[in-house]
Amino acid sequence: MTTVQTLGVYIEDAVSSYRFPAQPANLYDPLRYFMTLGGKRIRPALTIMAGDLFDIPKEESLPAALCIEFFHNFSLIHDDIMDAAPVRRGKPTIHTKWNNDIAILSGDVLFTEAYEQLTAYSDERLALLLSRFNNTAREVCEGQQMDMDFETAVHVTEEAYIEMIRLKTSVLLGCALEFGAILGRQSETTCQLLRDFGVQLGIAFQIQDDILDLYADPEKFGKQVGGDILSNKKTLLLLTAQRLASANNDSRVSGLLNMPADQQKIDTAKQLFEELGAVKQVKEIMNSYYQQALHALTELDVPAEIKQPLQQLSEFLMNRDL
Ligand code: IPE
Ligand code: IPE
Ligand code: MG
Ligand code: MG
Ligand code: MG
Repeated sequence: MTTVQTLGVYIEDAVSSYRFPAQPANLYDPLRYFMTLGGKRIRPALTIMAGDLFDIPKEESLPAALCIEFFHNFSLIHDDIMDAAPVRRGKPTIHTKWNNDIAILSGDVLFTEAYEQLTAYSDERLALLLSRFNNTAREVCEGQQMDMDFETAVHVTEEAYIEMIRLKTSVLLGCALEFGAILGRQSETTCQLLRDFGVQLGIAFQIQDDILDLYADPEKFGKQVGGDILSNKKTLLLLTAQRLASANNDSRVSGLLNMPADQQKIDTAKQLFEELGAVKQVKEIMNSYYQQALHALTELDVPAEIKQPLQQLSEFLMNRDL
């Protein structure tokens, strides 16, 4: 059985020893830089742990795990341009350190590296891996577009928000887990259960990301605190605050959206969301998705002790500070 700690070292080694071509330096240097900044490496851990449920050795799951991690990093490089994010993992983002053109292209080439990893599977599993991966990548783009559209939308329902984060974030966790089941040649029912576990966990994970975006310790978080507020992102915190405020004819949340993008806006949001009780409610919603994730994991017909690393990782995700 693989523990979270030993697996972390194994994945980090594999990612940091990955060799990108030397030239053109402006294409590959940013990737060497970005891929060695750390990151939690949650998604490749999910793939390897899921494979482990079906006795797939970690060496066999590794290419699928790297495919997911490369795709994730590609999506972050482009996301940082879209969100005008200055820092990631405690260091300047690629588009800040180099420029937008370089960030777009190095992101693109990283996407191709993700596909390249899947060529390690030359048997009947490849078609299914590819089809699930393509579907997921398309959904992530859909979610990212919804996220951007919502910045300027006035009314976003909680339901639409959940759908947006299911697409931009959760399906990738689902795919990471499903990859393990596909490698283990499992039935569609098992694939679906693992996917469900990942999707519910991913929703809780993105809600947590939204909370951290405003309330994290800037020393630990590694990203700009308050970035979502500056871009008027329709996070669950904001939507919940809007709902609580409008019930009392309180115009402070709509006022917040019209404030200039500065530190005062961030401080105002931080205080206002607490005062309205939005933070407490959002944490409850997050927890209900986490519980649904754990339930899906329980349904999986594998001995409980073998599922422990996945449970441990889920628990860590809910208690993280970065
Ligand atoms: C950040 O993902 C993007 C989201 C979906 C919230 P992570 O928090 O997993 O980022 P790293 O890879 O650990 O930096
Ligand atoms: C990002 O969501 C999801 C993807 C990259 C697809 P966020 O924009 O909230 O992620 P962070 O906070 O920048 O990591
Ligand atoms: Mg972002
Ligand atoms: Mg974003
Ligand atoms: Mg975020």
